[in-house]
Amino acid sequence: MRMAMIVAMDEDGCIGRGEGLPWRLASDMARFKQLTEGGGFNAVIMGRKTWDSLPDSFRPLPERLNIVMSRDTGWEADGAETALYSGRAIEISYADGCEECWIIGGAQIYQMYLDRVDEIHVTTVHTKGSGEVIFPDWDRSQWDENVVERLQSDTENEYNTTYSIWTRR
Ligand SMILES: NC(=O)c1ccc[n+]([C@@H]2O[C@H](COP(=O)([O-])OP(=O)(O)OC[C@H]3O[C@@H](n4cnc5c(N)ncnc54)[C@H](OP(=O)(O)O)[C@@H]3O)[C@@H](O)[C@H]2O)c1
Repeated sequence: MRMAMIVAMDEDGCIGRGEGLPWRLASDMARFKQLTEGGGFNAVIMGRKTWDSLPDSFRPLPERLNIVMSRDTGWEADGAETALYSGRAIEISYADGCEECWIIGGAQIYQMYLDRVDEIHVTTVHTKGSGEVIFPDWDRSQWDENVVERLQSDTENEYNTTYSIWTRR
């Protein structure tokens, strides 16, 4: 089973503003959907706060196994599997026959899995100071960047963006 991470961050590494994403970027949403759904049956692993931040209409994320990390043994939600520790989330994905397992955030969950993935899909949003939730420190000298696409802002995309795939050396 392949494991990868996907994140959108501004030039300061900011990924969120507490209750949700700080930007309106239709191209990034479409890429997120296309990559995480993939061609088969995939899992997405997220933190409980990210689950809470999803609009009702996107919860659970369709066509994917939704795994939510929480330390609360009583936490449950329709359409989500709960994982109380990191290995458990991987176990669930594997047992359910997922081809790919995507780590989709937030900051606490990225931190937990940074050492376990070999590929990070990053959308850099060309703005700064978007909010207070920050992607964890990572040593980019240990990774190679392949820039896939640069897009200009337009009516559906608030900022210019660069989409890169980082692979571990
Ligand atoms: N830009 C992006 O690509 C992107 C992607 C995803 C999210 N976000 C943003 O990120 C923000 C949320 O990030 P966040 O870091 O505050 O929260 P988070 O990582 O989404 O969730 C944190 C929660 O995960 C659970 N958790 C953490 N460590 C755990 C462990 N070791 N074992 C079991 N459960 C554990 C805890 O849930 P309990 O409290 O229930 O125990 C904790 O409160 C939001 O603003 C969201 O919009 C941005």
